[in-house]
Amino acid sequence: MPKEQFLIAMRYLAASVSIVSAKDSHGKPHAMTASSVTSLTVEPPAILVCVNKHASIHDVLKPGSEMCINILSNAQQDISNLCSSKDSDAKRFDNEYWNKDGTPFLKEAQSNIFVQVDQVIGYHSHSIVISKVLNVYNAESFNTLIYADGGYLE
Ligand SMILES: Cc1cc2nc3c(=O)[nH]c(=O)nc-3n(C[C@H](O)[C@H](O)[C@H](O)COP(=O)(O)O)c2cc1C
Repeated sequence: MPKEQFLIAMRYLAASVSIVSAKDSHGKPHAMTASSVTSLTVEPPAILVCVNKHASIHDVLKPGSEMCINILSNAQQDISNLCSSKDSDAKRFDNEYWNKDGTPFLKEAQSNIFVQVDQVIGYHSHSIVISKVLNVYNAESFNTLIYADGGYLE
C-alpha cells in the first residue's frame, strides 16, 4: 500500500484553513481547525467537511444541528493553532476573536458560512459532514490562510 507516498501527496495538496464552530445541546461552544472543507453543490448551496471521530466537536455535528465554517485570513494563524492543539474549548473561546451569541463565529474571518448539518457519513476514522448553507458573510478582499507541506504559506 503506497501510504508514505500518499502522505507526501497530501502535503503537496495546498488547502485553505477554516475553523468549524458550533454549540452543543448544553450551549457549550466547540471549535476545530479543518482544511478538509469542500464545496459540494450550488443547487442547493451545500458544503462538506471531514471530521475525525475522536475530535471533540465530532458528536456535536449531528443532522439538524447548526455550525459556522469560518474561512480564515492570513492574520488568523494564532486561532488556527489554538483550535488544532490540545487546548480546551474553554481556552479556544477565551479571547476577543469570537461572537458567541447564537452559533459562535469568528469576527475577522474571510468568510462565515452558517450551515445546518444534513448528513453525516462515516468512513473509517472520519465522518463526512454534509451541510446546507443558511447564510454567508464575506470579507471585501481575498487574504485566505493556506496550509501546505506541513505549514502555513506566508
Ligand atoms: C491546518 C490543519 C488542518 C486540519 N484539518 C483537519 C480536518 O479537516 N479534519 C479533522 O478532523 N482534523 C483536522 N485537523 C486536526 C484538528 O484540528 C486537531 O486534531 C484538533 O485538535 C481536534 O480537535 P480537539 O482537540 O477538540 O479534539 C487539522 C489541523 C491543522 C493544523
